[in-house]
Amino acid sequence: MSKVAARLPWFGPGKLPLYLAPMARHTDVAFRQLCKEQGADVMVTEFVQSEALIRDNAKAWEMVDFTETQRPMGVQIFGATPKSMAKAARMVCDRVKPDFLDLNFGCPAHKVIEQNAGSGLLRCTPLLYDLVKAVKDAIPDVPLTAKMRLGWDHSTIVAVEVAQRLETLGVEAIAVHGRTKEQGYSGEANWDWISQVAAAVSVPVIGNGDIKDWSSAERRIKESGVSGLMIGRAALSNPWIFSAIKANLRGDNKNMPVVTAAHRWEVIIRLAELTLEVHASRLGTRDIKWMLGRLHPLTHGLPVSRKVRDRLRSCETIDDLRRLRDEHLAETCVTKSY
Ligand SMILES: Cc1cc2nc3c(=O)[nH]c(=O)nc-3n(C[C@H](O)[C@H](O)[C@H](O)COP(=O)(O)O)c2cc1C
Repeated sequence: MSKVAARLPWFGPGKLPLYLAPMARHTDVAFRQLCKEQGADVMVTEFVQSEALIRDNAKAWEMVDFTETQRPMGVQIFGATPKSMAKAARMVCDRVKPDFLDLNFGCPAHKVIEQNAGSGLLRCTPLLYDLVKAVKDAIPDVPLTAKMRLGWDHSTIVAVEVAQRLETLGVEAIAVHGRTKEQGYSGEANWDWISQVAAAVSVPVIGNGDIKDWSSAERRIKESGVSGLMIGRAALSNPWIFSAIKANLRGDNKNMPVVTAAHRWEVIIRLAELTLEVHASRLGTRDIKWMLGRLHPLTHGLPVSRKVRDRLRSCETIDDLRRLRDEHLAETCVTKSY
């Protein structure tokens, strides 16, 4: 049963919100729009450096952007200096008015942990707590949440004690990615630890790690006692995962998403168009070469998808992409779902 969070109304009895996980360079306004249309309930921006926001860096503020239709929407910030984090949090809340402010205690990237930020804070918990206190004091009017890994490595798992302390400091929901910093993205997410965190605190815990489809979601919902699920990499190639999980939760077999090759192409083109629109002022309205990396995962699942990806590399404009779609659909004549 979902726990109640006074200021986060998407949690509560009978509710199980599906979050789109923040993913740097992927989950911008355009991709979030796709996932929202496919049933994602809650969105969080990719992590944004607190110092960059304070410096008024235009790119950092662009990363914080969202549309009204994407609410409930959180902005995620990272850093290792309580004062800067508090200042950046206040600036974000004043300028873009997110539904919640999220703190990153999970990023394993070297350039982040070497400053003691992201998952680096999990081996330096006194600083982590100071940082939470400073941010909480700076934004009493906005719900504060956190996203964390289990700990630095398997011999220093701190998720339960950190979650308990976060709760006493006023953090209102906690997303737990069931891996350590040392694991990066390898191995499997450990949902036993996620369950232990969920049992140890009374704020909602959002479970994250390796949800790929309805069967993995169902198993984790039953076993873990989490109040919500967060889905990352699977959504990059399969944004329909949200509507599929929801239809299954409702027991509504008639409304399962049916994903044909034509439908997949529709979404690839739509993502390219939305992405061009969002980044037009900086990157122009024609060139799509720079975004092929984000279209790439969506080609998985197309018939002869390797060939499509080879040909995708030579697409320079949205017209090239449309041509590739027409040729591919004509060559494969696939309309059935797969
Ligand atoms: C490319 C990429 C970028 C990511 N960027 C962020 C980020 O900005 N903030 C964050 O909290 N987690 C980030 N993550 C971690 C994801 O939010 C998520 O915790 C992780 O991918 C595990 O979930 P999954 O198995 O559903 O993918 C990132 C992951 C990937 C693969």
